[in-house]
Amino acid sequence: MDLTDSDFNNLREYIQGIIGLSISDDKRYLITQRLEPIVQACKCKSYAELYFKLKEKSDPELNDRMIAAITTNETSFFRDNHPFESFREKILPIIFEKIRERKKKLYARRGPKVNIWCAAASTGQEPYSLSMIILDAVGNNRVPDIAPEDFSIIASDISSQVLSKAISGRFEQMEITRGVPENYRERFFTRDGNNWIVSEEVQKLIEFRRVNLIESFLFLGSFDVIFCRNVLIYFDINTRISILDQFHQLLNHDGFLFLGASENIFGVSDKFESNHFGRTIIYKKK
Ligand SMILES: C[S@@+](CC[C@H](N)C(=O)[O-])C[C@H]1O[C@@H](n2cnc3c(N)ncnc32)[C@H](O)[C@@H]1O
Repeated sequence: MDLTDSDFNNLREYIQGIIGLSISDDKRYLITQRLEPIVQACKCKSYAELYFKLKEKSDPELNDRMIAAITTNETSFFRDNHPFESFREKILPIIFEKIRERKKKLYARRGPKVNIWCAAASTGQEPYSLSMIILDAVGNNRVPDIAPEDFSIIASDISSQVLSKAISGRFEQMEITRGVPENYRERFFTRDGNNWIVSEEVQKLIEFRRVNLIESFLFLGSFDVIFCRNVLIYFDINTRISILDQFHQLLNHDGFLFLGASENIFGVSDKFESNHFGRTIIYKKK
């Protein structure tokens, strides 16, 4: 099916307007490869017709399907490994101290919970990895004065489709093989036919929500740790600036920000200082 210049420009502007994805001239194939199946499924005769249907917004499901098709949802348990190691080795001990201090001052504004946000969580492997690390560290009374209930993880994404899969907690064998250590699989998953279901204790720490990062998200409250990995790369510079500004406002003064390995805030925001822990860069508020 032909994609005319005007269809390409209309669709990419529309997509940028609602999800922030910036599609350059040389990425025309993104529209044809990813949206053609939707054009066919909704029985549109052209990309122009799809554009009008999307713009009308009469079918919210069509917009959801478009978002699921055009976004890159690639993720895995313990992706890149070292950020999760750094979280476990460097950040958790600091957080334990924070919890102890908050418990002492019961008048703390948001109570003693430590709030973690996975800001583009895709199908859930990233927040589930964090939840397993937390349970491994503090479950079964391993640290007498700290309990899993002292932690709360919000996991969000723009795509309802990936969120449904994340909420189901159901993963295929391949997804488990790609990253879940054997002892974690035994402890935190049960088998159901060809799938694996993540245990209730792991799910219990996480609340899944739909959040669009190109809109204001200041209503979410404050956080001690934000993971926003492998999504900023898809946005233009102004969108990245706005997102990082809001992260700065939402992070507690001693909070931590994790970005993806290829995402650098140099030239985008000077509101954070970078700390290197081995291969991991962790940002703190200046
Ligand atoms: C490549 S995945 C990253 C998943 C995970 N953070 C990781 O690093 O493995 C990028 C995710 O960002 C989401 N996304 C794209 N645009 C978004 C937006 N405007 N607001 C929120 N999430 C968005 C996509 O739906 C996708 O699930």
